[in-house]
Amino acid sequence: MSAQIIDGNALAKQVRSAVAQQVAALRSRGIQPGLAVIVVGDDPASQVYVKHKVADCEGVGMHSVLDRQPATLSEDALLERIRALNADPDIHGILVQLPLPAHIDAAKVIETISPAKDVDGFHVASAGALMIGRPGFRACTPYGCMKMLQSIGCDPRGKHAVVIGRSNIVGKPMAMLLLQANATVTICHSATADLAAHTRQADIVVAAVGRRNVLTADMVKPGAVIIDVGMNRDEAGKLCGDVDFAAVSEVAGWITPVPGGVGPMTRAMLLVNTLEAAQAAARS
Ligand code: GUN
Repeated sequence: MSAQIIDGNALAKQVRSAVAQQVAALRSRGIQPGLAVIVVGDDPASQVYVKHKVADCEGVGMHSVLDRQPATLSEDALLERIRALNADPDIHGILVQLPLPAHIDAAKVIETISPAKDVDGFHVASAGALMIGRPGFRACTPYGCMKMLQSIGCDPRGKHAVVIGRSNIVGKPMAMLLLQANATVTICHSATADLAAHTRQADIVVAAVGRRNVLTADMVKPGAVIIDVGMNRDEAGKLCGDVDFAAVSEVAGWITPVPGGVGPMTRAMLLVNTLEAAQAAARS
């Protein structure tokens, strides 16, 4: 069997186009959705990510502010900056790029963002709302993964989904979204005794560990849907995911590539969340 590819670039394009239409509708009423992105320090990967996020905003007609701060910025100064953005009516979403320098408490920073502007979905209020099935911002990567399942007509109801990884920004919210969609969910992690025994039972596998070849062909049920959140480099320096793509493609029914899979969807869902933040602000 050769798996069908879930094309994240194509799907993200569709999402951006729908967002752009809604942005235009809001702008005709005098409201331009706005995203503020703060990056502290000069981590090269973070600099690239934030540049893309700001360019994405421009592409759909949103206002954006890129706030580059030196690595020496104090925690207090960062919290002050966030409070100012919380009060800024032109800004509907606030994103503080992670990781932050070691002297800054990331949890404190995230909790200072107004939950109404928490477009990353990382605030404890957003995580709590997801946990109990209330409306709130969904973390962009798991939200994008759910859209990818929807795009291929995969309804998680009654299916067995295995999430590999238990991070607060991907694994845990992913499991919650799948549960909300009525899947039977197993969360596997570094202390799971027999990972393959779990994944072989799975109709849907989401790999979100950050290590190459976490999922190999012998661990996959024929026809399963495989979502690869990983972003790694192979020995040749080439971008790759957590899944052994070539071999797993021979067994799975559907699979996301890296690059061109989950990554573009994560960026697109940030725009969706920012749009929703602006629409909510317009209603209040
Ligand atoms: N660093 C890597 N991914 C992300 C993300 O989605 N949001 C934030 N704020 N920082 C990140």
